[in-house]
Amino acid sequence: MSANGIVLVTGGSRGIGAATAALLANQGQRVVISDIAPGPLAGTQTILWPAPFDVASESAVVSGIADIEAAHGPITGLVNAAGVFGKMHPVERVRMDQWDREVNIDLRGTFLVARSVGVRMAQRRHGAIVNVASVAGMTSGPIHAYTAAKAGVIQITQTLAAEWGRVGVRVNAVSPGFTRTVALEAGIASGALNKDLLAGPTAMNRLVEPVEVAQAIAWLLSPMSSGVTGINLPVDAGFIAGTTWAAYGGLPEAPEA
Ligand SMILES: NC(=O)c1ccc[n+]([C@@H]2O[C@H](COP(=O)([O-])OP(=O)(O)OC[C@H]3O[C@@H](n4cnc5c(N)ncnc54)[C@H](O)[C@@H]3O)[C@@H](O)[C@H]2O)c1
Repeated sequence: MSANGIVLVTGGSRGIGAATAALLANQGQRVVISDIAPGPLAGTQTILWPAPFDVASESAVVSGIADIEAAHGPITGLVNAAGVFGKMHPVERVRMDQWDREVNIDLRGTFLVARSVGVRMAQRRHGAIVNVASVAGMTSGPIHAYTAAKAGVIQITQTLAAEWGRVGVRVNAVSPGFTRTVALEAGIASGALNKDLLAGPTAMNRLVEPVEVAQAIAWLLSPMSSGVTGINLPVDAGFIAGTTWAAYGGLPEAPEA
């Protein structure tokens, strides 16, 4: 992945991005974090980019990527983890300013950063990109803009994989299930989400840990996945496998240990 280059992690100051940046740095990668709310990762060798840019702003992304490469060298691995959660509403109450915010950051932002970095990788004929989508992009829920944006992330992942496959750039997505980040914990604490309802339908009866998503991302960036491009890998503790069992009376209880 980054033998002679850096890995850029957007949204790397918190949550899944932070777990990924820390894991990659521990593996010996040179990791640069870019985040609109920048914060250093204590206990890691990660480099915090000091000029935060909004991934939804085309001009800011284009100049930000150029500046990062001028300062730290070629980006050979990219993790698009910057994102915002969807607001839950009945359809009549979906506010279009909120719709635009979620689609702009989660879909447009992912595309803008992937394009800005990917064209550079394509010129150098080397690189790997991982976009963070969501199981929400593969299912339905009362988070209308978010599900659409994440489905779009899965789609552009395939498109960019096809676009750059012949020049040696791989593009994949991970789709986390409900993952125990600060953002999710805040949703549980506010009462908007219920931990038992999030975990119960999964095959493994639990939330996903941020490091588990990070491990999948690290694999997709590494030569260990050299033949893999254009996929969307759920890391969901069996959320997709388990949810349909409600129609058949629910998942089996584990026998007493
Ligand atoms: N936590 C989950 O349960 C879960 C599940 C599925 C998918 N995801 C996705 O994973 C990604 C990370 O989520 P998380 O739970 O770690 O959230 P988080 O809020 O902990 O981290 C997201 C980071 O992105 C940054 N960010 C937000 N908007 C930005 C912008 N416009 N420009 C640059 N940086 C920006 C934030 O400052 C934050 O540090 C998101 O795309 C989210 O949709 C999360």
